[in-house]
Amino acid sequence: MKLKIAVLAGDGIGPEIMKQGVAALDAVAKRFGHQFIYQEAVCGAHAIDEVGDPFPEETFKVCMAADAILFAAVGDPRFDNNPTAKVRPEQGLLAMRKKLGLFANVRPVATFDCLLHKSPLKEELLKGADFVVIRELTGGMYFGEKYQDNDKAYDTDIYTRPEIERILKVAFDTAMKRRKHLTVVDKANVLASSRLWRQIAKEMEPQYPAVTTDYMFIDNAAMRVLTEPTFFDVIVTENTFGDILTDETSCITGSMGLQPSASLGEHTPLFEPVHGSWPQAAGKNLANPVAQILSAAMLLEHFGLNDEGACVRRAVDASLEANVRTPEIQVAGGPDYGTVEVGRWIADYITRAES
Ligand code: IPM
Ligand code: MN
Repeated sequence: MKLKIAVLAGDGIGPEIMKQGVAALDAVAKRFGHQFIYQEAVCGAHAIDEVGDPFPEETFKVCMAADAILFAAVGDPRFDNNPTAKVRPEQGLLAMRKKLGLFANVRPVATFDCLLHKSPLKEELLKGADFVVIRELTGGMYFGEKYQDNDKAYDTDIYTRPEIERILKVAFDTAMKRRKHLTVVDKANVLASSRLWRQIAKEMEPQYPAVTTDYMFIDNAAMRVLTEPTFFDVIVTENTFGDILTDETSCITGSMGLQPSASLGEHTPLFEPVHGSWPQAAGKNLANPVAQILSAAMLLEHFGLNDEGACVRRAVDASLEANVRTPEIQVAGGPDYGTVEVGRWIADYITRAES
């Protein structure tokens, strides 16, 4: 298969982990005889410095012309807590999601047996936890009308029926392909937008008789994902709740550095780690490349390259089993591997014919 892939490395640790994501794809291309053509483009703080825009028109064009986007991370401390900053790197990511119509963010949460002890949660609670959070990505408070002056500020949590219907459809369809259990997470006891979500989900339920659908308030869900993670199969929720919930659920896997995601919708699909740009670690060969590499696996699977995706996943599993790990998940006294070494080990494993 021939795929055109837009490569957006962004800021902080982005370029380092992206190199390893691309190395994994190159290894897949070599092993399975595919052709992946990469086109790099700037975004985030990088792009603000270069052209004054965190998601320049040129980058948008590259994304639109590609079959898929592999994205790393954006964000830079120069812009944080700086009320005078007119434009922020994060706006680039939000503009990209909006302009490409990427309304469905798919964030799988799974455990690795050899890392169960790395989670702050009890091992016996985690065993077998395997669910996916479908986060609405282009609506809600992130994009609703905003206002700020010295005495008053607001963000509007707005959702329309078509926006809710399309994300619920993704969620029901995902549940049909999995264990057929959907949990709609909202705050319908307080928020009008949540009540509309719930109403529409109830209207859609009869179209999916095979799916068991339940409803949970976000505050309760925030507790249940930690006290009973095996309860969940598919969670669907609005933008802000999904953002918060998926940082929380990364504790289940044991490290933010292991969490991939896919953002799907109207135009080119995008694959990115759940974590951010970790500027303090930039250039130090410390960042875990696995979330980026697993995002590449999701990219492959999106195009039906399931053997290829499985091969990448086996390589990641093998690296973790072999203690080829970055410091945040290394066993005490274990060998020291950096971003480059972990990435190289995984790429080599993929290339080996017997793997
Ligand atoms: C995420 C990030 C982004 C978000 C930030 C960087 C704007 O936290 O992808 O989860 O809030 O959506
Ligand atoms: Mn987030």
